[in-house]
Amino acid sequence: MRISVSPGTMETIKAKLLVVPILEDGKLLPFQKKEMVGKEGKSYLLYDGYKGSEKVFLVGLGKKKDVSSEKVRKAFALAVRKARELETGELTAFLAGFPGHAEAAAEGLLLGAYSFDKYKSKKDGKEVKSCVIVAPKADVSSAVKICENVNFVRDLVNENADVMTPAKLAAVAKDVARKCGLRFRVLEKPQLKKLGMNLLLAVGQGSKCPPRMVVLEYSRGKGKPIVLVGKGITFDSGGLNLKPSNYIETMKQDMGGAAAVLGTIKTVAELKLKINLAAVIPLAENALGRDSYKPGDVFKGFSGKTVEIENTDAEGRLILADALAWAEKNLQPRLLVDIATLTGAALYTFGELVTPVIGTDKKTVQKLFAAGERTGERVWELPLYEEFKEEVKGEIADVRNLGYNKRYAGTIMGAAFLNSFVKGPLVHIDIGGTAWSAKGRGYIPKWATGVGVRLLTEFLRGMGK
Ligand code: BES
Ligand code: ZN
Ligand code: ZN
Repeated sequence: MRISVSPGTMETIKAKLLVVPILEDGKLLPFQKKEMVGKEGKSYLLYDGYKGSEKVFLVGLGKKKDVSSEKVRKAFALAVRKARELETGELTAFLAGFPGHAEAAAEGLLLGAYSFDKYKSKKDGKEVKSCVIVAPKADVSSAVKICENVNFVRDLVNENADVMTPAKLAAVAKDVARKCGLRFRVLEKPQLKKLGMNLLLAVGQGSKCPPRMVVLEYSRGKGKPIVLVGKGITFDSGGLNLKPSNYIETMKQDMGGAAAVLGTIKTVAELKLKINLAAVIPLAENALGRDSYKPGDVFKGFSGKTVEIENTDAEGRLILADALAWAEKNLQPRLLVDIATLTGAALYTFGELVTPVIGTDKKTVQKLFAAGERTGERVWELPLYEEFKEEVKGEIADVRNLGYNKRYAGTIMGAAFLNSFVKGPLVHIDIGGTAWSAKGRGYIPKWATGVGVRLLTEFLRGMGK
C-alpha cells in the first residue's frame, strides 16, 4: 500500500472514500446528522458522499481530551477494512483537525489492511492500494517502514511450518542482510557440533530439517552492541511430550521471536539508527520421531552447564540457553534482550493483550514499558526473586528445564532457567500470549500479530540518541 500526505480541505478533495474522524463532543460537520455521535468504535457510512468525494466514512474517536494514538490507529484500521469491503481500492483520510496524529493514522491503515490470504483462491474484498492522508506537513515515512516490517513478520509467522523451515528462515535472513547491508553468518550442524551447542542440536535432532543459528550485525554507532536473541522453533509439536489437540494447531507461531528480531534489525537498518545492533537467531524444529531427544536425558550445552530434560516441550529455553551463552561470549553485548514465544503461561497471565517482561536490567525494563505505552504493544514486568532460581536447580544435572511443578509460575520459571546461562543482565520478553491472536482486534489481525517489531524499534530509537 502506498501512503502519501497532502494538504487539502474537505470541500476540494476528490476521493472514492473520504474518511473523517469525529468526536463525541465536537462540532457537527456539514454532512453529519446529530444522531451520528462520535463515540469510540462507532462509525457511519454516507453513501451520498460530499462534494468531490463519492462516499464518506465517519469514524468516532470519543471525547476530545481522551483522543490517543491507539484510538486513532484503531479508527483507521476500521476505515481501511471498510474500504476493502466497499472495493474502493483507495481512501483519503481527513486529518486536518488532528495535528500530531498522522503517524498513528498511517499505522492504523497499514497494519489494519493486512490479511493473510495467500492460500485463498478467492480473496475477500479488494486490496486498498493507496491512501492519502490529508494533513498539514507530516512525515509518516518512518511509521510506514516500521509497519511494512510488522507485516513482513506477520507473513513469516503465518506461512506453513513446512515451508518456513530453519533453512528457509536462514535464507530469508540472508536476503534481508544483503538488502540492508548487514553482516550475515549462519552456523550449520558441523559448526554447532564443534562449538558444543548441544542443547540446540538436541531439540533439532528429531527433525529432518537440521537446526541452524543465524547471526546478523548492524553497526552505525559506537561501542558494544545491543544483542537481540529470538526463539526460532519453526514448529513446536512438543516432541515426545507431544502437545494435545487444541494446543498444537497454532505452533507454527513458535518462530515469532526469531521473526520479530529479524524484522527489528531490518527496520533499524532502514531507519539508519545510530546504534550497534546484533540479532542472534537459533532455529530448529521440535519434531516427534525416532531420533527425537528424550525426557530424562542430560545434555551439556555451550555454557558448559548440564541440563536435565524434564519435558521435551520446554524446548525454547534450551535453544535460547545456547544462543544467549554464545552471544554473551562472542558479541560482548552492552545489553542482552531475548524475545520468545516461551510459555503458554503468558497467555494465562495477561491473555493476548499484554506481554510479560522479566529483566535484571531495571532501566531497560522501564524503557520497554514506556515504549509499550507509546506503541500500544504493552508490556508488564513480572518478578524474578532468588527463590524462583532455586526451583530450576537440577538433581542429576546442574539445571532442569522445568520448575518442580510445570503449572506453577511458568513464565517466571522460563526466565529463571534462561538467567542461569548468562553472567550479565538479561531482559526476557515472553510473547507466548501476544504473538498470535485467535481473533482480530482493531489493527491486530487474526493469527500472527507481528508483535515485537514496533516495541523494540521504539525502544532502540531511544538508544540511538
Ligand atoms: N511454544 C510453547 C509455548 C507456547 C504455548 C507459546 C502456547 C504460545 C502459545 C513452549 O515451547 C511450550 O511448550 N511451553 C510449555 C512449557 C511447559 C512444558 C513447562 C508450556 O507453556 O506449556
Ligand atoms: Zn514447547
Ligand atoms: Zn515452543
